Amino acid sequence: MKEVKRVSFDEIVERRDTDALKYEGLKMIWNNENLIPMWVADMDFRTPDFIIESIKEKCSQGILGYNLPSDNWAESIIEWHKKRYKYTIDKEHLIFMPGVVKGIIFALQTLTEEGDGVMIMPPVYHPFRISIENNNREVVNCPLILEKGHYFINKPLFEEKIKSCKMFILCNPHNPGGRVWTREELEYIDSVCTKNNIIVISDEIHADLTLPGKVSYIYSSISPTAKNNSIVFRAPSKSFNMPGVMSAYCIIENKELRENFKKYVTGNEFDAGHIFSYVSTAAAYTYGEQWLAQLLEYLSDTINFTIDFINKEIPRIKAIKPQASYLIFLDCRELNMTQSELNDFFCNNAGLALSDGEMFGKEGIGFMRMNVGCPRSVVERALRQLKEAYEKL
Ligand SMILES: Cc1ncc(COP(=O)(O)O)c(C=O)c1O
Repeated sequence: MKEVKRVSFDEIVERRDTDALKYEGLKMIWNNENLIPMWVADMDFRTPDFIIESIKEKCSQGILGYNLPSDNWAESIIEWHKKRYKYTIDKEHLIFMPGVVKGIIFALQTLTEEGDGVMIMPPVYHPFRISIENNNREVVNCPLILEKGHYFINKPLFEEKIKSCKMFILCNPHNPGGRVWTREELEYIDSVCTKNNIIVISDEIHADLTLPGKVSYIYSSISPTAKNNSIVFRAPSKSFNMPGVMSAYCIIENKELRENFKKYVTGNEFDAGHIFSYVSTAAAYTYGEQWLAQLLEYLSDTINFTIDFINKEIPRIKAIKPQASYLIFLDCRELNMTQSELNDFFCNNAGLALSDGEMFGKEGIGFMRMNVGCPRSVVERALRQLKEAYEKL
């Protein structure tokens, strides 16, 4: 493990005019460059030095040629999971992916047919729905239940709806609700899905960002049946703020599923990374433990600060406290605004660019998603602006 000095997450890193989506989007989507960007899920913290160095080292070799996975790519993933999750991944079960969403699309294309039902639990990360629709599969919604500030699975509905499905896409942990599913909840999903012969796709991109005090589980670690019926997608991209680098991978324990999937992705050359993918992933997992611990502490403080501020100063907005990651889902239904009034309020009155809750399904109407993965001073400014706008309502 490399000693990592105290990282300053308070540092403001200038990202304007760097082609960063989060900033360019202010012009493209909101037509207002002065908003504070708190939408797309990347953070405004510097990517750790050990990751940048791994890429610089590749560049210093002088030739950006075709590249094989570095020896330590698979090893670093295996070690990370052994240490952090007490889970042993067989190297043969690991497949590089050019992105989690692309991986989910490959799974849809290889393991379901046109017209098959695919279940999701909205409000949920919108590319799930879009990928199902774009591939002419049927979206089967099993909306989550929001109770006392937490989302829960609607079990009777889950059991009923799953019957018309071939696949279930789980967001584990959940975006935008921030839920880290408990072992019992995952066991429940496993028992129902196994009984109905359902393939579970578990998107675990936010798992390493599980906040102090919570434990997240790799879906396939839950039981032999979960292992047998699932594809687990993971990546260091969110946790180490490197989503611009292709760094995802999947774990498929079932031989038959794996062979079907591999035939498609290898046959179409979808499972090859670029020259920086492997070394940067290996650097993240080899040297990242201390950096990540510091990040989680910082995010946890920021989240607590944000929730306290909103509870006290903006009481008609209810902030749902995430158990993982840096996305806070704001329940704004008490403001009694239409969705377009709500978007207008955040943008034009508060000067903030947030993700529109409706994007995550109709269950997200009346909600907005706030990304607090940025220096505390930016969050403080955003909350002051929100309070001022709220007081003028
Ligand atoms: C739940 C979830 N899955 C996947 C992604 C995107 O992953 P990728 O860029 O690897 O496709 C995101 C990004 O916000 C996400 O929140």
